Amino acid sequence: MPHDDREGPWEVRPRVGIGVVGFGWMGQAHSRSYRRIPMLFRRRAAEPDLVVCSDTVAARRDEAVTAFGFRESAEDWRAVCEHPDVDAVVVTAPNQLHVDVVEAACAAGKHVFCEKPVGGTPEQTARAWAAARDAGVITAVGYNYRFAPLVRHAAELIRGGSLGEITNYRGRFFSMYGSDPLGVLSWRYEQEEGGYGVSSDLLSHSVDLAHMLVGPIARIVGMRATTIEERPIPQPGAGHYGRGRAGDPTGPVTNEDYVGALAVFEGGVHATFEASRTLVGPESQMAFDVYGKKGALSWNLERLNELRLYLAGDGPDTGYTTIFGGDRFPYHGNFVPGSANGIGFEDLLAIEDYEFLDAVARGEQHEPGFGAALDFVAVQAALVRSWESGSWENVVPVAKVEMR
Ligand SMILES: NC(=O)c1ccc[n+]([C@@H]2O[C@H](COP(=O)([O-])OP(=O)(O)OC[C@H]3O[C@@H](n4cnc5c(N)ncnc54)[C@H](O)[C@@H]3O)[C@@H](O)[C@H]2O)c1
Repeated sequence: MPHDDREGPWEVRPRVGIGVVGFGWMGQAHSRSYRRIPMLFRRRAAEPDLVVCSDTVAARRDEAVTAFGFRESAEDWRAVCEHPDVDAVVVTAPNQLHVDVVEAACAAGKHVFCEKPVGGTPEQTARAWAAARDAGVITAVGYNYRFAPLVRHAAELIRGGSLGEITNYRGRFFSMYGSDPLGVLSWRYEQEEGGYGVSSDLLSHSVDLAHMLVGPIARIVGMRATTIEERPIPQPGAGHYGRGRAGDPTGPVTNEDYVGALAVFEGGVHATFEASRTLVGPESQMAFDVYGKKGALSWNLERLNELRLYLAGDGPDTGYTTIFGGDRFPYHGNFVPGSANGIGFEDLLAIEDYEFLDAVARGEQHEPGFGAALDFVAVQAALVRSWESGSWENVVPVAKVEMR
């Protein structure tokens, strides 16, 4: 895993041409990352070059050029995949478009960074994986919470045995982005446009972190619910966080707002997972708790710069302690020196994009790549089967596919 210690020679570096498809929240956030990489990472192996950006909304295309410094923009995303100066395509469009863009990018020999969950359905993710395998390109999936310095520290504590044998795991992602019934019917709420609901959008992050921290999940049983069944139809081009008005025409929500699941890891660890976009209260609780025979730890995105740690002991002062983020943890010092001077959400994306750029420049596979996305959708597919069967389902690899 590359590290940046702000030391090292200034070299002439290769240029890596970046093309972005979908210039909404994530397209803009990753583009900001690429602009910041030269200022943050002295040991970068390449210079990112913002070549071309595609969006169906003209104002966003204009902003990409005038404010973000893309050389050009295009209405048709195919122009990004085919552009001769693009080395890596960043896919930040609605989920259902991902697999078409990934396949075209791979066919053109481009490396691909695709936002999670890669495909809107397990089958689409498997297609994307197969396209990248056939083309031999480097892939990345946007599981950005892996890059939080304190999440990495948590992984080291677990691996190093500080918690003893791990027995239990709780993963959850509660976001309030869908809690307002007047929140518009964006692509996220439609199976046709977004694929599955929170099981793709939010649970993917929770399961990926669980895989990284504890290992593969073997069995799962779960339930789902759609708690807000109708939403106002948005104006074309309105962001997915837009708000309609009472009395606006509405359409049905066709995927799930909530999932809850029990799971067992291959090593026997017992787990619970929950994800919701409509609960009122938790604003962005992407969180996990890990319990072992000698200790426990907890992390929550709402307190990104804090890790809660319990190490079993006999003394009267034994109890959970709070470790603040600081420059003694990987990458934190690239953003801010000292301890308890916090970093933020987009800083995780900058680390993620730096590592992807590094992998492309070195010609090495990035982690997490599409293989990690495939590992998640194997769990998702078992969960979806359990919705139908009402029973425990084994996690089986989503055919490392001969789908074409
Ligand atoms: N990793 C994370 O933390 C995180 C957070 C949010 C979203 N995401 C993922 O990022 C992706 C995008 O989500 P978002 O929140 O940025 O959505 P968004 O709706 O803000 O942005 C999507 C953009 O794609 C554009 N678009 C739609 N159709 C297009 C087409 N045919 N060609 C080109 N552009 C098109 C839209 O106009 C919009 O600007 C999704 O896959 C989502 O799951 C990841």
